[in-house]
Amino acid sequence: MTSLPQSHASLLNQAHVFLMDMALDSRFKMDACNLDARVEQIALEIARTGTYEHTAQELEFGVQWAWRNSNRCIGRHMWRSLKVLDGRGTKDRAGVVQALKEHLDHAWQDGAIQSVITVFPPRKRGNVSHPDPVRIANHQLLRYAGFKQSDGSILGDPHSVDFTRRMLSMGWNPKQRTAHTPLPWSIWIDDVEQAPVDHFAHHPGQFPEVDITHPDHPAIDALGLRWYAIPVISEMALVIGGITYPCAPFNGWYMGTEIAARNFCDPQRYDLLERIGEALGLDTSSTRNLWKDQALITINQAVLHSFDAAGIRMGDHHELGAQFERFCQIENKAGRGVNGDWSWLTSPISGSITPQFHRTFDNTVEAHTNFFYQSSPAEDAAARQSTRESISTGRNADPFHLEAHHETPRCPFGFDRLSEVLTRRPKAWRKAANQS
Ligand code: ARG
Repeated sequence: MTSLPQSHASLLNQAHVFLMDMALDSRFKMDACNLDARVEQIALEIARTGTYEHTAQELEFGVQWAWRNSNRCIGRHMWRSLKVLDGRGTKDRAGVVQALKEHLDHAWQDGAIQSVITVFPPRKRGNVSHPDPVRIANHQLLRYAGFKQSDGSILGDPHSVDFTRRMLSMGWNPKQRTAHTPLPWSIWIDDVEQAPVDHFAHHPGQFPEVDITHPDHPAIDALGLRWYAIPVISEMALVIGGITYPCAPFNGWYMGTEIAARNFCDPQRYDLLERIGEALGLDTSSTRNLWKDQALITINQAVLHSFDAAGIRMGDHHELGAQFERFCQIENKAGRGVNGDWSWLTSPISGSITPQFHRTFDNTVEAHTNFFYQSSPAEDAAARQSTRESISTGRNADPFHLEAHHETPRCPFGFDRLSEVLTRRPKAWRKAANQS
């Protein structure tokens, strides 16, 4: 083992730490013997092939553990309920579309939304210029387009403007352009951008939406607001035991504030606060009367009310805040820490009346198994192309630092602290390293 090159040794180390975490989960019935045998097997596989393949159980635990380790997520006390769909054999555009269709079917459950993740093939290791087999460029699988108008204004979601422009330039031809036009899917196979897939134009039933109404304020109904039911993040990289899966779309269900406070009222998003205030007949001439706060609470009530009336699962910040707090307490009592990012875990409305506000969190990122931001498929493909050129001209560019310490694409919340993992080396491994 001590003769493994540094990158192999680092991968084995991450696999080992991951398996030690897995062995502590009684559902998987791994004793010390099983653990050692599996690590030994993985060491041989890495020595032979430069990588290793997860078993079905490792994939199941891995996605759940990656969710549990996601410092910014307030819903991860439910991590054991995440269901995995294995898409590692998917190779082409049609296969990806079929897998995403199945994903949405599994997730929807007639509104009783189930958390699901589909895992597409892992990134090939060893050769930085090797393309990723499957990538999805969309931020989420369900999302509204943002059309920049000739007068500079934006129709739809400003967050989607660049992506929408790219889809149009790739031949997307939406039937109509509204504030709520579902975006097509941008699938990349082996670094090649495929023609946009306008899935929802043909399967509108897979894009469930809710019209936003308020039980006491018909003026809110008249604003004609709506939002889709299932948030499916599709651009992040999943890392399990050091193996990167650059395409692994996952969904949970919404917490009301995400839609009502952030998507509707953030100034860089639909920016509706003033319109809501005016619709409610509030005096918006000064902030002193707290009309903004009143409008914000009212639209949050409306979103929760509308999802409830439609029978679609949605959390609220009181319920989820209390559940997450209980989770932290149970975990702490059992000697397991729960790391977290305070600014994300604390609700964007009424922060101080949720438990998270009154806690501090250690924001150290568990790097061996987690979800990470990454550069877009277009950026990655371009970087790989330039790497290929520089390799052929004899320069050693490594845009992803894959062979150094950074197996994972950039992560704005501290992935570079790989040392955190390295200090958690398994004992046997440390001994072997010291002897070398
Ligand atoms: N905040 C994002 C949105 O509003 C969704 C992020 C994931 N949220 C979730 N509840 N799983 O679309």
